[in-house]
Amino acid sequence: MSAVWLKLITIVCLSCTALSGPERSEVVWKEIGGAFTIQCRSEPNQEFLTLRRGIREDIQIFYKVGTSEKNEIAAEFRDRLQFNGVFPNIDLLIKNLTSDDTGPYWCEYARFDSKSAAFITKKGNGSVLLVVRGEPHQSLY
Ligand SMILES: *[C@@H]1O[C@H](CO)[C@@H](O)[C@H](O)[C@H]1NC(C)=O
Ligand SMILES: *[C@@H]1O[C@H](CO)[C@@H](O)[C@H](O)[C@H]1NC(C)=O
Repeated sequence: MSAVWLKLITIVCLSCTALSGPERSEVVWKEIGGAFTIQCRSEPNQEFLTLRRGIREDIQIFYKVGTSEKNEIAAEFRDRLQFNGVFPNIDLLIKNLTSDDTGPYWCEYARFDSKSAAFITKKGNGSVLLVVRGEPHQSLY
């Protein structure tokens, strides 16, 4: 078995453990150059949506402030990510997939709690583990 496959299996196992919360989550397999849609869903009592990637949830891909026009797309995704829907239910379409897109994606919602004067974050439905098949040439991390 190649090193790439060992690495892939590791990332899948780690992600499945991380994704096995009470929220709905799944593994999605796509081809290089393909497209996929992440369907972030939440109860309506939220104010912000952040789409994150990575086992450590450290890469911010997309950010949206409630129903306002305010949003931000990471430079790497700017010309291949589209979103639509009515907050908090947002569909995010990512096109022209590369093997570097492999990894877990998280729908994270937040709202400001005035009592504690802090942001309270909560995972929404729709988090997925994406595996892009093809010739992985770079590190999956
Ligand atoms: C999230 O998923 C659970 C389980 O499928 C479902 O019961 C719940 O209604 C969903 N929540 C939203 C806001 O879609
Ligand atoms: C996808 O990649 C092809 C080839 O590099 C390019 O022509 C096309 O414009 C890209 N499409 C998007 C949506 O980025």
